[in-house]
Amino acid sequence: MGALDGRRVLLVIGGGIAAYKALDLIRRLRERGAAVRCVLTKGAQEFVTPLAAAALSGQRAHTDLFDRADEADIGHIKLARDADAVVVAPATANTLARMAGGHAPDLASTVLLATTLPILIAPAMNVRMWLHPATQRNLALLKGDGVAVVGPNVGRMAEAETGPGRMAEPDEIADAVEALLGGAPEEKPLSGRHLLVTSGPTHEPIDPVRYLANRSSGKQGHAIAAAAAAAGARVTLVSGPVTLPDPPGVAVVRVETAREMLEAVEAALPADIAVFAAAVADWRPAAFGDQKIKKGPEGPPPLALTENPDILATIARRTEGRPPLVVGFAAETTDVIAHARAKIARKGCDLIVANDVSAATGVMGGDRNSVHLIGRDGSLETWPTMGKDEVARRLVARLGQHAASP
Ligand code: C5P
Repeated sequence: MGALDGRRVLLVIGGGIAAYKALDLIRRLRERGAAVRCVLTKGAQEFVTPLAAAALSGQRAHTDLFDRADEADIGHIKLARDADAVVVAPATANTLARMAGGHAPDLASTVLLATTLPILIAPAMNVRMWLHPATQRNLALLKGDGVAVVGPNVGRMAEAETGPGRMAEPDEIADAVEALLGGAPEEKPLSGRHLLVTSGPTHEPIDPVRYLANRSSGKQGHAIAAAAAAAGARVTLVSGPVTLPDPPGVAVVRVETAREMLEAVEAALPADIAVFAAAVADWRPAAFGDQKIKKGPEGPPPLALTENPDILATIARRTEGRPPLVVGFAAETTDVIAHARAKIARKGCDLIVANDVSAATGVMGGDRNSVHLIGRDGSLETWPTMGKDEVARRLVARLGQHAASP
């Protein structure tokens, strides 16, 4: 258990030679248990790549304010909110000036202006820049705003000058993050639990360019993973192909087919709770050719299908290593409750979240959901229509109660 277990840090990497130390900082923070998401300024990218930050953090790194994919899904406001603290390392003279003046010309400065989270800065710059009255004035303003500061240290600089300006060492910064966040996180409903979630559709290849799939967007499964992480769980999300961003603080395993999904789920066990929200393809083409099937005079080829493994049933029926709480989904277009009850018995799960996915409901791919919660003991609860995020939060709260009462 690390001192930063369950904590989420948004690391803003500024442009300076010390940026390479920010990569080490990612590692140190993760070793202490924190989930780290990175934003790189344009200057930072002269020294380190977003790819390196993504590889070390295990999450996509963010660079652009007007990245359309980002803005649609995450957006700067969400980045500024979905963490427990923001760390700026290295914090250059320019970044300090922008922060002090409230300027927001890029993603990093916009996030810093939009956040209400505690902020820690690790300044790094040339001695003269550090000692310049303008920088010291900005620093005083920032301290007055409640920004915490670590370093800079005195030492030799890249330009062979000596004096204050060297960025604090990664371990010193990680210590300062711990101090900022004030000891152990409060006990959350799913602290210490491992929750496994499947999400999204599966793609079943017909040939190298074609596949069978379904309309699942993964929104509900991803929302559950995010809500479980926010509730303190360690979360593994096994996801089929989706266009959604990785939820913060969640370990994501990406798969294509049902068989890969089953393999990834088995590899992620043991888990305390497993939620199977993926819309797994029931069938896959029986034969998969390496070559693209050609159009020919003989007309369309027959598409023979074979059954995919039922991941939920396989896990729920395990005699060894079955997660104590197994939750399935039932997406139906008729007789929702009757079908869901039959499914509990057939698959051996403890709880089913049933929903009506008829085209008229707009649930498939949409943002709202109307669900029924059906227990193995026959219990039935019907929730009003609400956003998929809210369904996720309520479901996670419910799972916390189940997990607490064995
Ligand atoms: O049988 P049906 O597909 O309606 O069951 C839905 C539930 O079973 C969902 O929880 C889904 O994630 C899970 N499932 C699975 N593997 C399959 C088919 C469904 O895990 N091959």
